[in-house]
Amino acid sequence: MGRPVMGAEGDIAGEARRRRTFAVISHPDAGKSTMTEALALHAAAISEAGAVHGKAGRRGVTSDWMEMERARGISITSAALRFEYHGHVFNLVDTPGHADFSEDTYRVLAAVDCAVMLLDAAKGMEPQTMKLFEVCRHRRIPVITFVNKWDRPGREALELLDEIEERTGLRPTPLTWPIGTAEGFRGVVDRLDDRIVLYTRTAHGATRALETELSPDRAEAELGADWIRASEEVDLLGAIGADHDQKRFEAHESTPVLFGAALSNFGVARLLDVLVGLAPAPAPRADVDGALRPLDAPFSGLVFKVQANMDRAHRDRIAFVRVCSGRFERGMVLTHAATGRPFATKYAQSVFGQERSTIDEAHPGDVVGLVNASALRPGDTLYEGQAVEFPPIPSFAPELFATARVRDTSKAKQFRRGVDQLDAEGVIQVLGSDLRGDQAPVFAAVGAMQFEVVQHRLAAEFGAEIVLDRLEYSLARRTDAASAEILRRQRGAEVLTRRRDQALLAVFSDQWRMRSIQREHPELTLDPLIAGE
Ligand code: G4P
Repeated sequence: MGRPVMGAEGDIAGEARRRRTFAVISHPDAGKSTMTEALALHAAAISEAGAVHGKAGRRGVTSDWMEMERARGISITSAALRFEYHGHVFNLVDTPGHADFSEDTYRVLAAVDCAVMLLDAAKGMEPQTMKLFEVCRHRRIPVITFVNKWDRPGREALELLDEIEERTGLRPTPLTWPIGTAEGFRGVVDRLDDRIVLYTRTAHGATRALETELSPDRAEAELGADWIRASEEVDLLGAIGADHDQKRFEAHESTPVLFGAALSNFGVARLLDVLVGLAPAPAPRADVDGALRPLDAPFSGLVFKVQANMDRAHRDRIAFVRVCSGRFERGMVLTHAATGRPFATKYAQSVFGQERSTIDEAHPGDVVGLVNASALRPGDTLYEGQAVEFPPIPSFAPELFATARVRDTSKAKQFRRGVDQLDAEGVIQVLGSDLRGDQAPVFAAVGAMQFEVVQHRLAAEFGAEIVLDRLEYSLARRTDAASAEILRRQRGAEVLTRRRDQALLAVFSDQWRMRSIQREHPELTLDPLIAGE
């Protein structure tokens, strides 16, 4: 592993082969920012650890468009960090890291080929871990699990494996196995390469962890009881057949597991090697008709995130596009599949946090930020030449609803403009009905944080302070005009139109209410908003 695979000049398939496009995901506090920094540090993409997220005491480069983000030390913006490692190009797509789930997380995962799930060694599976595993299952995204913070007292390694299997149904296949725990974490048995690797702590984990290989003949003498235990457990793993199987991993049936400590860089180099060796490279993407767009077809890309006003110095709107086929060259004029209109790409950038650099060329798997992208929405396709449209990113079923009105009615225009903007960015779903009128749209969200973000941004960017009133609905179903007639007469239900696509949504106070209406009117059309829900 770690061998360079160089794409020949002009060879798009070769360029795609050396791309690894992935996200690091976790329950908050499991170490996502630390791991992002550690990965980038190892690959020497940024000059110092801590340059990615502006946490207290570190060099802050997180965009300042939202003070809230910094105050809480969380990352709400999403973009991609790109770095090279052993001849491979890594695109680390950042996912929102806050406790509340938002639609962004789902959308961002539409842009990756693989996910690295971090578990906190002491906490194991946490609520967000479960949800994220679920999204990956839904999207069939292969997951590599990294058990982090092994340098701190935590759970038993075997117990964590059991928990992963029980809660996710995925078969955990450890690639490395820890020798010692907490302060006594000495290194790992590398099951793939059949090596023993020892780690040496360096000051504050600021530089690369020192790794040395230990000959198995000397293991017992040097490592004593820790080795005896680790080797017994490794034998057990072999006996139960917890071995890596590439096909099962790619089919989302098993998850390779690594142990380490991002803070000390323990296991980080191994993770990079595993991404090179096992994570899938970009593959042809299916279009709306299920036909695969070959990697070397003319350019096509999927918009997976749109964001405005990321930085006060550049008041603009950026669409993040994942390249699906062909070569992107700055200046190209593309076609926007949804409208058939041309889209100029003079201002293409690679963006992470506040750092932007102009991007001139990109290949399948890469992420490009397109400036002035007011016409683009998440889920849109851009292409060159031969037309293509990728399936829309399924929008998640909202569970929280609130009406919004502007506090100062002289700001009604700003309010409307702001709501349109945030709707287009996909920050929130905007619903409405004739009954409620234009002045009081209904906001629908997956996580409560989305409401806070909208409230903050409407005030900060559009000068429109709003009052939100939570509605007592908790679930939504897609319906049709005939059913809407019946539903309008029911208590505990309402029919709203989603602005984005004019879809009719029936919302209910709870499952029980919906079922009782359904019992009375079995003819009603009430479809889940996402397949399999
Ligand atoms: P997040 O992005 O997933 O929310 O997690 P983050 O990286 O911010 O890490 C959460 C806390 O866990 C941080 O400590 C971080 O230093 C610590 N941490 C991350 N990885 C490891 C590890 O491998 N070992 C140990 N021992 N700690 C780890 P904090 O004190 O909350 O934040 P900070 O003040 O260091 O930024």
